[in-house]
Amino acid sequence: MSTAVVTGASSGIGAATARRLVAEGFDVVLAARREDRLRALVDELGSDRARAVVTDVTEPASVDALAASVEECSVLVANAGGARGLDPVDELDEDDWRWMWEANVLGLARTVKALLPRLEASGDGRVVAVTSIAGHQIYVGGAGYTGAKHAAAAMVDTLRIELLGRPVRVIEIAPGMVETEFSTLRFAGDAERAAAVSEAIRPLTGEDVADAIAYAVTRPSYMVVSRMDLMPLGQASARDVHRET
Ligand SMILES: NC(=O)c1ccc[n+]([C@@H]2O[C@H](COP(=O)([O-])OP(=O)(O)OC[C@H]3O[C@@H](n4cnc5c(N)ncnc54)[C@H](OP(=O)(O)O)[C@@H]3O)[C@@H](O)[C@H]2O)c1
Repeated sequence: MSTAVVTGASSGIGAATARRLVAEGFDVVLAARREDRLRALVDELGSDRARAVVTDVTEPASVDALAASVEECSVLVANAGGARGLDPVDELDEDDWRWMWEANVLGLARTVKALLPRLEASGDGRVVAVTSIAGHQIYVGGAGYTGAKHAAAAMVDTLRIELLGRPVRVIEIAPGMVETEFSTLRFAGDAERAAAVSEAIRPLTGEDVADAIAYAVTRPSYMVVSRMDLMPLGQASARDVHRET
């Protein structure tokens, strides 16, 4: 039996990925801060296949406790993260930037570090880091987020080299626009501003990203999907979006 740990499993891409990995035959460990959401997903997926571990990836002790609760793990989907604000550098909010760095960079690094022994022991470990096209491109107002995701992408590339010769595949999934709670969080609950992001464009869904993740982790063990960029038809780059008005 293969177990997949999914961080950020309480909504969006992470919840869709957990559902899809159960359908692919994995048992899943669901990690995020909102316990009620995790419990609801366990109820949906069945407690024989899914387990919730309340986790805050910005807290080292919390990530260590997650790893300690996992006996066996062949797949880690390190997906927890997000953006806060859209402020230009000369108006930066340090608390927002610190959170983005903690969640998207250190959170990713400490989760990988904590679970790597289990992944390696499985004999066919797979680390899936959900970064973003913001890890490879920039846009005005996005420096706090693009800086953090660039750091995450650089770390993922470094990790792949550091693990050469060891049985762990390092996979980066870099989505463009996906309809989730991402923009609501970015704009501190401002639903109108969040809705405007995907106005007159059909964004990807969490299920679309989960589909790519499922593809990547189910390839034969000699094949590494090192990176996939996923974009909706109406988006050509982090800055170029066509809206059907
Ligand atoms: N949506 C997009 O357009 C898009 C595009 C590219 C990349 N991404 C990336 O995709 C990933 C998933 O985001 P999403 O779009 O699915 O947005 P979402 O619906 O807001 O989901 C974010 C998830 O991360 C979890 N999370 C946030 N901070 C956490 C923390 N400190 N500890 C543990 N879990 C934490 C949240 O759970 P709790 O709040 O319950 O902790 C939630 O489950 C993120 O890394 C995001 O940067 C999103």
